[in-house]
Amino acid sequence: MVKLIIDTDPGVDDAMAIFYAAAAPEIELLGLTSIFGNVRTEQATRNALRLLEAAGVDAPVAEGATGPLQMPPFTPSAHVHGAEGFGDIPAVTPVAKAIEESAAAFLCHMAREHKGELVVCPIGPLTNIALAIQLDPEFVTNVARIVIMGGSLEEGGNITPHAEANIYHDPHAAEVVFASGAPVVLVGLDVTHRILCTSDDFSAIAKAAPELGGMLQEMSVFYLHFYETVGKFDGCSLHDPAAVIACTHPELFEMRDVPVRVVCEGEEIGLTIADRAVGRPAIQVCMGVQSEAVKGLFMGHLATLS
Ligand code: BDR
Ligand code: CA
Repeated sequence: MVKLIIDTDPGVDDAMAIFYAAAAPEIELLGLTSIFGNVRTEQATRNALRLLEAAGVDAPVAEGATGPLQMPPFTPSAHVHGAEGFGDIPAVTPVAKAIEESAAAFLCHMAREHKGELVVCPIGPLTNIALAIQLDPEFVTNVARIVIMGGSLEEGGNITPHAEANIYHDPHAAEVVFASGAPVVLVGLDVTHRILCTSDDFSAIAKAAPELGGMLQEMSVFYLHFYETVGKFDGCSLHDPAAVIACTHPELFEMRDVPVRVVCEGEEIGLTIADRAVGRPAIQVCMGVQSEAVKGLFMGHLATLS
């Protein structure tokens, strides 16, 4: 059983990842931390609470940073995920509230409490993780792993020709994380662009699990439409679910051990580069994936939801 905290900016594929984690018997979901990205942080917190309530998971949500470490505030990606983050699904106010502790403080205390066991899975910009590293020098040795959805070594970008969105939204935070010596696994576009879900797949999920699967199916309509507007007609990428699956099934991914740095200015800002000369510890970058097996787990686990 993997003890997991997901750091998230929900977001359509974040919702898929969180429902997947709620359904997976091999995951103990210890909480969520919120971050800006697909939506603003305050909305991300509401969405995180709402997803846990929908899934019937009793776990805390800690609110994260409202902006990047050094970059100016930016506009959320409403054209990809919808105004509220869940496609065309309207806003609903959750019953529960976020805990008092900040995301960074919560991550540090949970890593200490579950030393050597806690896996943190950031599926948004890395600001909270960088703040946790700066807050507690022992955080990087207390966590078992940090499995990040982000980056792209050979696949090009998705928000600019060079950058993947999560890294682009806070490149300085990504630099802090990649330089920290923490046990990092990077699940980036090199693999997530190979794991696709079609509208038929979402219909099958909705059929098997009418309530929560139905909610994902409804959100996916907006998300798949965005993919079509950028010329991708064979489905949407399972970016965030892939990172959660890599937490429990690393054997489905081929990893390259390499130090990574991030371009923090200029036209290539947000670009992730494998650079053996950079003088920092290697991280594990996923460069290959058993796509059908990952998709099979995704579909199979979501089908067990109500
Ligand atoms: C990442 O960016 C966000 O839009 C998605 O939720 C995912 O975390 C993909 O680049
Ligand atoms: Ca995300």
